Amino acid sequence: MKRLFTGLQSSGTLHIGNYFGALKPFADMYGEYESYLMVADYHSLTSLKDAAAVRANTIEVVKAYLAAGVDPQKAVIFKQSDVSEHTELAWVLECQVTVPFLQQAHSYKDKVAKGLEANAGLFNYPMLMAADILLYNADVVPVGADQRQHVEYAREAAAKFNNNYSQTFKEPGEKIQEEVAIVPGIDGQKMSKSYKNTIPLFATPEETTKAVMSIVTDSSGDVPTNVYAIHKLFKTEAELAPLYEANKGQYKALKEALAADINTYLAPMREKYASLTDEDVKRVLADGAAKAKAIASAKMEEVRQKVGVSI
Ligand code: TRP
Repeated sequence: MKRLFTGLQSSGTLHIGNYFGALKPFADMYGEYESYLMVADYHSLTSLKDAAAVRANTIEVVKAYLAAGVDPQKAVIFKQSDVSEHTELAWVLECQVTVPFLQQAHSYKDKVAKGLEANAGLFNYPMLMAADILLYNADVVPVGADQRQHVEYAREAAAKFNNNYSQTFKEPGEKIQEEVAIVPGIDGQKMSKSYKNTIPLFATPEETTKAVMSIVTDSSGDVPTNVYAIHKLFKTEAELAPLYEANKGQYKALKEALAADINTYLAPMREKYASLTDEDVKRVLADGAAKAKAIASAKMEEVRQKVGVSI
């Protein structure tokens, strides 16, 4: 079986864009690989200086993956900070690449352009991510298009290390989730926390309905575009045809139907989410950390030998 590795940097309340863009694709594919799912909690410190929020985000995102159907017996679920080899290898990789190389990272430039502090952790972010991937000799790294360059950086860091020492790291392939539709938000732009246009994933039916009723609609045409675009995620076009035919121009009725469909679709997952305790999450993470650590520590031992720090 090929090995799959992916990381998540969770930043607060999950929405249906996260579900269709990341959770569901992972839940659908992880069984075909030996899969590793890592919560990138150290990465999150580049932008978050709030311990309670870091903790809450970790718990939420693990519960979300479990609720979405990921079986912790079949995938190794762990958090980055539990396997200290990640930060350790990041240092070694930072010593392989140049400052001008890191300065070209789009993600870094974009975040700084958006006003994020240009801290050294943010700058070195790609080498911590490279360490995540390379410790596990991952074959496949499923990422969204915005993370593609980071996987290239991991490849480059692997090649540099292999060249400076000897063959040690596998150069990872990426698996860009292109087939994933961009989920539109309630204003028609891409659904994103930063645009404040989300429909929350683990909300009550009432909260969901409220978000759906505020979907922006223009007042012309039979079909409210923004409503239909979201509706298509929950039902097939064939299923929707009679509903939209019978309710031409009836935006309120169509929104109510959408809210009902979202609530029905998400009900089992919301129920599962609510049934999980923080203790369940801690158990899953402890178990995952032990499995991840076994692989990462063997790899790191090899690295220490090669660079000459183990004597
Ligand atoms: N940087 C990724 C993101 O923001 C998260 C991440 C951290 C990751 N380490 C990883 C993804 C390793 C894939 C592999 O989405």
